[in-house]
Formats: sequence, structure tokens, C-alpha cells
Amino acid sequence: MGSSRSNGNTAQIVSYLKDMTGFEIVDLNQKDIGFFDYEFKNREDDFNFLFKGIVQNYETIVFATPIYWYTMSGVMKTFLDRISDFLHKEKDFGRMLRGKNMAMISCSNSNDRPEEFPMPFSRSAAYLGMKYLGDVHAWVQNDTLSAEVKEKIDAFALTIKQ
Ligand SMILES: Cc1cc2nc3c(=O)[nH]c(=O)nc-3n(C[C@H](O)[C@H](O)[C@H](O)COP(=O)(O)O)c2cc1C
Repeated sequence: MGSSRSNGNTAQIVSYLKDMTGFEIVDLNQKDIGFFDYEFKNREDDFNFLFKGIVQNYETIVFATPIYWYTMSGVMKTFLDRISDFLHKEKDFGRMLRGKNMAMISCSNSNDRPEEFPMPFSRSAAYLGMKYLGDVHAWVQNDTLSAEVKEKIDAFALTIKQ
């Protein structure tokens, strides 16, 4: 989960998805993860341990992001950028992504997502040798998930649990 708040709308959607799948949640907002640095100056922050834990324990990774300025959140983009650490150093861990599954769930306040929104995820999955299982857009209005949104997430849950 890559929202800039831990108890906001994306969190509400992720919590519902967790109920449907049993998947575990990693809240990137609670982690200390610095921007990508060519000299790996932030190698001691939370990313290294977190990434190794993810690739060693999970087969399917779902990126959950709010829509901020028509694209993924900065928190999520920073996480994605930092995967580059493992393409340069400790490459064996980076290679562990190969053959794993990626999916994506986006969140805003309306049923309106830019058509191109999933592209950075689907293309990154292809680049990393991961299988892209697909994505879904969910929206929260008045702190509520509508029946329509719940149905979409239910269908998505079936896809990613395969
Ligand atoms: C910095 C920022 C930029 C946003 N940009 C968009 C946008 O481009 N399109 C959109 O539909 N909603 C946009 N929103 C609204 C959020 O997508 C929406 O409120 C979402 O539910 C927030 O999820 P959160 O509570 O997890 O942050 C933006 C919100 C913020 C804070």
C-alpha cells in the first residue's frame, strides 16, 4: 500500500481486499524508504530488508496506490524506483521477482481513472519478468465503498488468488 496516509481511502480499499484474499498488507507510508540514489547512500534504510522479505515470502504482489496527479503516489513510485537497487547490487534478490505475479489496485474518489494509468505497472512487470495479472480501480465516496466497488474488488480478488 502506497498511500500518503495510513488510514485513508486506499487503506479502506486494501483492508477490504485483505478480507477477500487473506493477503498481508505492507504499509509503505510507515517505512523509511528514501529516493533512489545512484551511490546507494540510503542502503541502510528500510527498503533492503523489506524487499528481501517480500521476494522470499510472496508469490503475488499487489501494488495499491491512490491516484495523485493522474499517476501513482510518490510513496509508491519511490518504492518502484528502489527496486533498481537490486538490479545493480545483490542481483540474486532482484532476479527472484522473475516468475512472480504482479497486480495493481488504484483508488480515487470517482469511477474515473486515466486510461494509461496501469502502464508503468504492466511494463515494469514485463521488464522484471513478472506476470501481470491485471488491475482494478476502486473509489471511496463519503468514506464508503459502494456495492459496485465491492463487486469489482471481489472479482479482482478471484483473479489474483489464482
Ligand atoms: C496530492 C493529491 C493529488 C490527487 N490527484 C488526483 C487526480 O489526479 N485524480 C483523481 O481522480 N484524484 C486525485 N486525488 C484524489 C485522491 O485520489 C483520492 O482522494 C483518494 O481517495 C485518496 O486516497 P488516500 O486517502 O489513500 O490518500 C488527489 C489527491 C491528492 C492528495
